[in-house]
Amino acid sequence: MQNFEAYLKAHIPKAPSFHPTFDEALGAMLLAGGKRFRPQLLLAVVDAYKPLLKESAYPVALAIEMLHTYSLVHDDLPVMDDADLRRGEPTLHKRYDEVTAVLVGDALNTHAFYLIADAPLHSDVKVALTKELSYNGGVGGMVLGQAIDCHFEGRKLSSEQVDFLHEYKTGRLIAASLKMGGIIAGLDERRLKRLYDFGLDLGLLFQIQDDIIDATSSSADAGKTTGNDEDKNSYINHFGIDGSIERADRLAKKIEIQMEEFDEPLRMKLEPILKRYLNRHKKA
Ligand code: IPE
Ligand code: IPE
Ligand code: MG
Ligand code: MG
Ligand code: MG
Repeated sequence: MQNFEAYLKAHIPKAPSFHPTFDEALGAMLLAGGKRFRPQLLLAVVDAYKPLLKESAYPVALAIEMLHTYSLVHDDLPVMDDADLRRGEPTLHKRYDEVTAVLVGDALNTHAFYLIADAPLHSDVKVALTKELSYNGGVGGMVLGQAIDCHFEGRKLSSEQVDFLHEYKTGRLIAASLKMGGIIAGLDERRLKRLYDFGLDLGLLFQIQDDIIDATSSSADAGKTTGNDEDKNSYINHFGIDGSIERADRLAKKIEIQMEEFDEPLRMKLEPILKRYLNRHKKA
């Protein structure tokens, strides 16, 4: 991942002009860090099956990180979650202003697709990647999830609706990250579907753990505003902390079983990335 991090730093989008702060604001949240979970997943799949394509996949990995970062910048805005801290730094609307945060988000979203179009990959692969990211990051995933998340604040959804919300909001982009790695590696439809379905479970686990962090970590430890889900249809508000941990454990076991069925190279690449999520709550 060190190489990807260097690639990211060298490919921060630029918007030079006489605007006093926009160019700096554009790169700030990407440079602030984050776990890089989605690029790691994509690159793990490429590395498992087509290691020679790993560097060609960097722009696509960065595209996913860029779209994800845009979703965080907008998620933190006062009209959405109204958060002051992100990736250990003041959120963009705090550091600059709301207009800047909205437009940086817009630019990160559109530039993600520029990066894919510009990647050194076959055109048909790039069309497939574009479809996957635009759908799962948009109407077929993150954007719809966020719309539901915000619209139903303070109104309790059914547990099926809660799963729907979190699958869309978080799960589908994580599933797409794995599948997009598979698309670059040239995997067949059956294996792509398996990766995607695995990613949906992983994404739900990830969001449950995120909800647990909101309820149990300080903002300083989390590097982002926590204690912020009071009115949300979070897992904690539906199932309590113990119920959420139980759900996380069940999902972690299911994910481990699925991983045993993966072929050796993929398992070897995914295990180190997923270890911290799978072991977290395990009881003897
Ligand atoms: C936070 O995502 C928002 C969710 C979808 C849970 P991450 O936990 O991946 O945030 P970063 O990228 O590490 O900052
Ligand atoms: C946001 O979920 C998921 C996105 C699509 C951005 P949260 O609102 O729970 O994410 P955090 O906790 O602010 O990172
Ligand atoms: Mg939110
Ligand atoms: Mg939030
Ligand atoms: Mg959260």
